[in-house]
Amino acid sequence: MGTPRQVTIRIARFADLAAIAAIQAASPEAAQWSPPDYLKHDCLVADVNSCVAGFLVTREVAPGEREILNLAVDPAERHTGIARGLLGDALARAKGNWFLEVRASNAAAIRLYESAGFHRAGRRQDYYYDPPDDAIVMRFHS
Ligand SMILES: CC(C)(COP(=O)(O)OP(=O)(O)OC[C@H]1O[C@@H](n2cnc3c(N)ncnc32)[C@H](O)[C@@H]1OP(=O)(O)O)[C@@H](O)C(=O)NCCC(=O)NCCS
Repeated sequence: MGTPRQVTIRIARFADLAAIAAIQAASPEAAQWSPPDYLKHDCLVADVNSCVAGFLVTREVAPGEREILNLAVDPAERHTGIARGLLGDALARAKGNWFLEVRASNAAAIRLYESAGFHRAGRRQDYYYDPPDDAIVMRFHS
């Protein structure tokens, strides 16, 4: 029997930035920001047996309105519910309207957001570059 898998969702701290940077670098579909900037917003990490397995960054854009800025999970930890856990925790922390933009080609993320209750609210043509892609705007209300 191996070590039991213990997953904790918690607020990110400075010591998590190296792991966040590595996960982001391994996730080309994710937004590529400077990781220290995430601590200026609301950043959650999924801690699996004391290792950071994923992160989610959100911010308030107006009273009662928030947006998801970035989300990525370590490729070795995907398909185990980490993103669902991060998203569920963030949505439970703040009621109201939630928005996000996602690459139209990112079927995995779109399915994740739809399974969490987000609906497609619009499409922005040629929103992304390198590589070019449309953005799907999604909205959730709780
Ligand atoms: C998208 C991403 C965050 C999903 O993380 P994850 O921890 O593997 O997702 P979960 O295990 O919590 O999956 C939850 C649900 O999401 C959907 N999903 C996740 N990965 C999927 C895939 N590869 N294909 C289709 N659906 C997928 C499924 O509906 C899944 O539910 P199920 O397991 O009951 O079928 C991850 O693939 C990732 O980091 N991708 C690169 C970065 C990125 O695309 N970020 C989004 C930026 S907007």
